[in-house]
Amino acid sequence: MPRPVQALIDLSALEQNLSVVRCHAPRARVMAVIKADAYGHGLLRAASALKSADGFALLELDAAIRLRDAGYRQPILLVEGFFSTEELALIEQYHLSAVIHHSEQLAMLSAFKRRGGLDVFLKLNTGMNRLGFVPEQFPAALEALKTSPAIGQITLMTHFARADESAGEDSVSAQLQRFNAIAAGRNLPCSLANSAAILRYSETHADWVRPGIMLYGASPFADKTAAELGLRPVMTVSSKIIAVQNLKAGDAVGYGHVFRADRTMQVGIVAGGYADGYPRHAPTGTPVLVNGRRSRILGRVSMDMLHVDLSGIESAGVGSPVILWGEGMPVDEVAQLAGTISYELLCALAPRMQVVT
Ligand SMILES: Cc1ncc(COP(=O)(O)O)c(C=O)c1O
Repeated sequence: MPRPVQALIDLSALEQNLSVVRCHAPRARVMAVIKADAYGHGLLRAASALKSADGFALLELDAAIRLRDAGYRQPILLVEGFFSTEELALIEQYHLSAVIHHSEQLAMLSAFKRRGGLDVFLKLNTGMNRLGFVPEQFPAALEALKTSPAIGQITLMTHFARADESAGEDSVSAQLQRFNAIAAGRNLPCSLANSAAILRYSETHADWVRPGIMLYGASPFADKTAAELGLRPVMTVSSKIIAVQNLKAGDAVGYGHVFRADRTMQVGIVAGGYADGYPRHAPTGTPVLVNGRRSRILGRVSMDMLHVDLSGIESAGVGSPVILWGEGMPVDEVAQLAGTISYELLCALAPRMQVVT
């Protein structure tokens, strides 16, 4: 038997989550965000379940080329654009689309002597202050694209900083207002919404929505669970108990002895640690499922193992199944206790993890 820790990827959940996107934004085209190896789920694996998406967004050029080579004909958008003229040639060759967010990229485009066909998303910085042209720079950037012989379709885009926060409403509406003031009367397609905006702000949907996290079945919100949003977890990380320890009151477990028993108790040792992608910062009390029953981890997560409380789970022993996150154990809950967000846990799945579908 191989080491029992594995990640099961439920492709039907991915497909279903895409249909949730379409229910919320029925008039928009959907650009499925599959950067970072589809948030850790596997690029081509995820793309196969998302094949009905109208486009794909990612930022790794080699991954975009793999996607094209695999036969996907939809627009494939590079969300950080390109970093050199050599990349620009590949973008043209593979008929990829690129975000243009900086004047350096405009300079590379003007030196690029080809004609037509390069579709671009011109990014506006409406308040995120990460990528994009500020409103004062925008008219000149648009003009440069319009007069460039290399450029085909131009789409306008921006990205929200606080659409996921319950107190983010004013920030979203300020960004939207700035965007609309710039886009008004231009008659160009527009793209603004990530998962949180798709779910909470229908006024941002425009022509293209760009869902990421909701496709993978996690919630972008701290105050609403994925299940409440009708989303199904795509990745379930499971393992088994490989040893049991019987502790007496005063015994401690694991590195640093950070958990000490105050009574007689059984502890299950689970194959799975931070070298598999489980967060080392997850404290005692982070929930897990053991034999389908809710329990908690104890002590410090080590590289290859962690410890779980078997109190009250009489049937548990060596070989018992453990779910670290996924079906029945929301990744959002684990992430929150570990002081992070689901995105980070999903993306950080370790290369050594056995992935099954
Ligand atoms: C430009 C852009 N659009 C869309 C998304 C998708 O965001 P989310 O995963 O929150 O839906 C991202 C992700 O960070 C992004 O960078």
